[in-house]
Amino acid sequence: MAVPAAVEQQQGIVRFYDFLPERRTFLEDVLLGLSRAQKTIPPKYFYDAAGSQLFERICELPEYYPTRTEMAIMNACIGEIAQFIGPSVQLMEFGSGAGVKTRLLIEHVKPLLYVPIEIDGATMQAAAADLSARFPLLNIAGITADYSRHLVLPEFVLPISKKVAYFPGSSIGNFTPEEASEFLRRARRMVGSGGLLLIGVDLKKDKATLDAAYDDAAGVTAKFNLNLLTRINRELGAEFQVSRWGHKAFYDEEQGRIEMHLVSRFAQFTRIAGQRFDFAPGETIHTEISCKYSVDEFAAMSKSSGFSCDHTWTDERGMFAVFGMMAI
Ligand code: TRP
Repeated sequence: MAVPAAVEQQQGIVRFYDFLPERRTFLEDVLLGLSRAQKTIPPKYFYDAAGSQLFERICELPEYYPTRTEMAIMNACIGEIAQFIGPSVQLMEFGSGAGVKTRLLIEHVKPLLYVPIEIDGATMQAAAADLSARFPLLNIAGITADYSRHLVLPEFVLPISKKVAYFPGSSIGNFTPEEASEFLRRARRMVGSGGLLLIGVDLKKDKATLDAAYDDAAGVTAKFNLNLLTRINRELGAEFQVSRWGHKAFYDEEQGRIEMHLVSRFAQFTRIAGQRFDFAPGETIHTEISCKYSVDEFAAMSKSSGFSCDHTWTDERGMFAVFGMMAI
């Protein structure tokens, strides 16, 4: 009787690291933001478990074209993209979320090590488990961290050819242009000379398309925005009456950016950690910007941040661009 040859069971190594500062920072950021003349809350706090789920729903909305357009570009150009990246790389992803776009990239690039960096640890670990099941040989070092800050990653002892940073979803647009340049310079340092950046950027276009993308008919983006108040109530013991707030999002053509606000529908106040905050009717809390670039604007910005823009992959209608860049 034939005996089956022994099959060597191989399995990639999966490890998690938590670099998130303490919860106290959330309270401090909220108190500070609500003390400003234009009240504001940093957008990274959108992404608790409920927020991450609502964001996944935004990505599927008919009005929200960026996710679908970026996926179509990736699908159409994955051969060229994989060739640009090359073999045996360490692939780092900023704001990996549920990791849907990553699957395609990992399947074709076959990195030696995948390093998802994500502010919501539970979302990151669930995505890592899913990837590990799909790609059993893949090594994963999952990092819970805030990528808008300086970050020193552990060095991994693997024979990698280069480091590649992947930053999809036009999340670069959620920084101001100054912050975006600073982020690019930090990414440049993380990948080192000869390292690569693959980045998805939403392009400038007509106001109607942009307005609809951030204020959808089904109200999912409104829910996502308002969830921030629910989170502050739950985690910081505040007393926002969420039903007394509204959602406002619009494209400012002059500045080339979406602005998103929470609007106080009445005169009201809330208390957080013993401090009282008053809101006039119509007063807003600014929660997000989403800057849009032209291909030339973005290429110029990356160039001044230490990257050469080698490839630009776009869709037929010029809605979205994926840039392949090398650190020089
Ligand atoms: N990076 C995404 C963007 O700017 C994030 C995003 C999409 C978003 N829709 C949103 C953030 C709605 C807040 C609210 O397009």
